Amino acid sequence: TTPLRLGIAGLGTVGLGVVGIVRKQADLLARRTGRDIRITAVSARDATKDRGVNLGGYAWEADPVDLAQRDDVDIFIEVMGGIDGAAKDATEAALRAGKDVVTANKAMLAIHGQALAEQAEAAGRCIKFEAAVAGGIPVIKALSEGLAANEITRVMGVINGTCNYILTRMESAGLPYEAIFREAADLGYLETDPMLDVGGIDAGHKLALLAAIAFGTRPDFDGIELEGIDRIEIEDIRQAADMGYRIKLLGVAQRTGRGLEQRMQPCLVPISSPLGQLEGGTNMIVIEGDAVEQIVLRGPGAGAGPTASAVMGDVCDLARGFRMPTFGQPAASLENAPAARAVLP
Ligand code: NDP
Ligand code: HSE
Repeated sequence: TTPLRLGIAGLGTVGLGVVGIVRKQADLLARRTGRDIRITAVSARDATKDRGVNLGGYAWEADPVDLAQRDDVDIFIEVMGGIDGAAKDATEAALRAGKDVVTANKAMLAIHGQALAEQAEAAGRCIKFEAAVAGGIPVIKALSEGLAANEITRVMGVINGTCNYILTRMESAGLPYEAIFREAADLGYLETDPMLDVGGIDAGHKLALLAAIAFGTRPDFDGIELEGIDRIEIEDIRQAADMGYRIKLLGVAQRTGRGLEQRMQPCLVPISSPLGQLEGGTNMIVIEGDAVEQIVLRGPGAGAGPTASAVMGDVCDLARGFRMPTFGQPAASLENAPAARAVLP
């Protein structure tokens, strides 16, 4: 069989996780897909950085746009991050050059996903993004494949592990937000811009993607009623606990009589419920559909192994020739989300 050749742009946490799986699981990947999956070229900003792995066997491209267009790359893996700039330029270049794209970049897709999906479809290519939502949990697959025959009525969940860590630790340590925020920073949990986490923005990006898949709409990040956890006080957490509740940064997307409602807000959930029991950096997503009723998915929402697991699941789909539109149905058929946006009280 012909090899399937990967070009990886980004050699940080996720990129190196992908390199690790491709190397460690070469035989398993070949058995499962019938293809010899190999990395041919990589790109990152700093060519001199010691990344703890020997990258000597791969071609190095200083510019990810050049990587995306190489003849010896079949799938372009974008794991750099950022809404615009290199990530978007290289993704567009890859599609123009006739490559499929796998990305973990929720920020880029929440904002530009519709346009990129249209470009991919026009080029007969696809963009896959399992890793962009809830790390290792295959929730995109669950919604777009396993639950494809359901009218989804609601998707909700905890999809930012850092916020869940901070809220959990505030309660267990009895310490104020500022102290646990510093602890999370010291542990390296926070994004470079911490407001992406504690402002609810990262979770909002993920909710916009989940809602688009679940309800057949365009991703509508601006339509989310968004509030972070940065104003939660220890007293709020104590009072909630006294009443039998925990505070979680909860994303909810549901169809209402007024249209699609999307909220990402700190919410009270019963301590005894699965969401109330969710501790640390774990993610949980609850999906309700007319036929399946309710399913709950739980697992690691971040980290090299879990996120690379999701990236490589997408690569395996492509290796098997399994392609589908970015948001589960052709981009042209997606409802116009702004028109369906709910007017929230
Ligand atoms: P890192 O910051 O660890 O790594 C980013 C990598 O991209 C680095 O190797 C960096 O190069 C490279 N890079 C950045 N800008 C450029 C550029 N302009 N040209 C070439 N290379 C560039 O990020 P992560 O691995 O954590 O995240 C990558 C993506 O995955 C993001 O979109 C993130 O949101 C997403 N994601 C991350 C998860 C996680 O657990 N970390 C979980 C789910 C999604 P250099 O090393 O030289 O600086
Ligand atoms: N900052 C994100 C989180 C990383 O804490 O969930 C994974 O997307």
